[in-house]
Amino acid sequence: MVPLYTPETMARHSSSPSLWTRAQAGVLLVAVLVLSVPHQAESLPADAALPGTDASPAPAMQTMAAAPAARAQEADPQDVASFFPGIKGDLTKLTWAHAVNSRDLLAKSLNDSGIMMLEADVVLGTTPESPNQVPVMGHPPMNTSDLSLQEFLRSVVTHNTDNNATRKGVKLDFKSIGVYEKAIDSLKQNFAGVPDFPVWLNADILPGPVNSTNTPVDAARFLAKAKAEYPYLMLSLGWTTRWGKALGNETVPTAFAKYNEQTVKSMTDALDAAQITQPITYAVRAAFVANSLDELKMLLNETHQASGKATLTVWSSDETDIVNVAQLKNNILAIGKDRVFLDVGEELAKQLDLASSALSTCASVVTTLLACAMVLFRAL
Ligand SMILES: *[C@@H]1O[C@H](CO)[C@@H](O)[C@H](O)[C@H]1NC(C)=O
Ligand SMILES: *[C@@H]1O[C@H](CO)[C@@H](O)[C@H](O)[C@H]1NC(C)=O
Ligand SMILES: *[C@@H]1O[C@H](CO)[C@@H](O)[C@H](O)[C@H]1NC(C)=O
Ligand SMILES: *[C@@H]1O[C@H](CO)[C@@H](O)[C@H](O)[C@H]1NC(C)=O
Ligand SMILES: *[C@@H]1O[C@H](CO)[C@@H](O)[C@H](O)[C@H]1NC(C)=O
Ligand SMILES: *[C@@H]1O[C@H](CO)[C@@H](O)[C@H](O)[C@H]1NC(C)=O
Repeated sequence: MVPLYTPETMARHSSSPSLWTRAQAGVLLVAVLVLSVPHQAESLPADAALPGTDASPAPAMQTMAAAPAARAQEADPQDVASFFPGIKGDLTKLTWAHAVNSRDLLAKSLNDSGIMMLEADVVLGTTPESPNQVPVMGHPPMNTSDLSLQEFLRSVVTHNTDNNATRKGVKLDFKSIGVYEKAIDSLKQNFAGVPDFPVWLNADILPGPVNSTNTPVDAARFLAKAKAEYPYLMLSLGWTTRWGKALGNETVPTAFAKYNEQTVKSMTDALDAAQITQPITYAVRAAFVANSLDELKMLLNETHQASGKATLTVWSSDETDIVNVAQLKNNILAIGKDRVFLDVGEELAKQLDLASSALSTCASVVTTLLACAMVLFRAL
């Protein structure tokens, strides 16, 4: 889970430009820390089994079983901001390798110390070693690969064990409900315990803009299985989209190139129906984010989770994705760099030039303080 009020996040907010003086913020920080931490722990659902929130060492994936006791003191490894302290809470600074779907790309990405997260696609297919269909790394319409999901994960676990300073997280993009259900079953069998690095389960679970006719991954089944088997992992949830190359020569009025209220509501309804309490990031396409500020604010605000705050992960395809860069930048900053992961191509990242913008807006500091007050209020 993404703890809202760790010392790190509080320190981050209190040192950003705000109306609060250092002294006021300091007093508040101490008060909030002293009062909220034990209560927050109590309010976690019993089935959350968060690693690192109690005194016992976090269970680990197979090869991590003999990890040093020091690990027990580490924060929740699913909290990306604390797993990668170098980004200092600025989620847009997380670095990504895309479509890590082959042995060669995996080796290169693991060896690249500049990369933090590996994004990879999972389909049902065969490998030279496995004539039967298993979850393999690949993008439809591919159904063969030289890298199975199991081998992919073993390699990441081994790398992370041997190279603590350049540990990676993974985002697995499941292309069908069939491969997802098989993959989760195989993960449960082959890896004991929980991963001690960030693992995101991603799928497009609902139809989205612009009138996309791609078949989404079955939302109810996707959410139910995650809740049952991996209730502490980050869910990365998106809508199917039609943009860029898929538009051909069609021109789409701006009014359609967005996540509208109905689209957003279909997601929060699905989460409510499945009673999801684990951390959530919404995978949203850059072109539509530029036109959907109010709707996305509403989406984040109406994600009712037991703890943690929902985030966005802005992605884009290639240069055929037409994006209003100025508006996209404005909207990312309005939502806050502490709430937005940026998984876009190099060119768009360069145009956005987010590094030169301060981390938090005053508004997000005030929101955080209000949220603190509410936690205290509920706890007392
Ligand atoms: C790993 O990276 C180093 C330089 O950073 C390079 O010399 C080496 O060849 C790379 N190894 C692989 C397997 O890519
Ligand atoms: C894999 O894809 C190829 C080409 O699209 C197709 O001919 C074949 O039937 C597929 N194999 C399976 C097992 O689905
Ligand atoms: C691994 O690195 C993290 C910080 O990057 C540190 O907190 C942790 O103690 C290290 N773990 C081990 C086992 O060295
Ligand atoms: C999307 O579908 C709606 C309802 O069928 C239609 O009114 C609208 O014109 C379509 N928009 C685009 C851009 O195709
Ligand atoms: C758009 O492309 C289709 C075929 O892909 C073609 O039939 C149509 O004439 C094109 N329309 C315009 C306005 O270029
Ligand atoms: C956030 O949600 C609450 C109720 O869930 C509502 O009262 C509030 O107005 C919302 N705020 C925004 C900015 O949408």
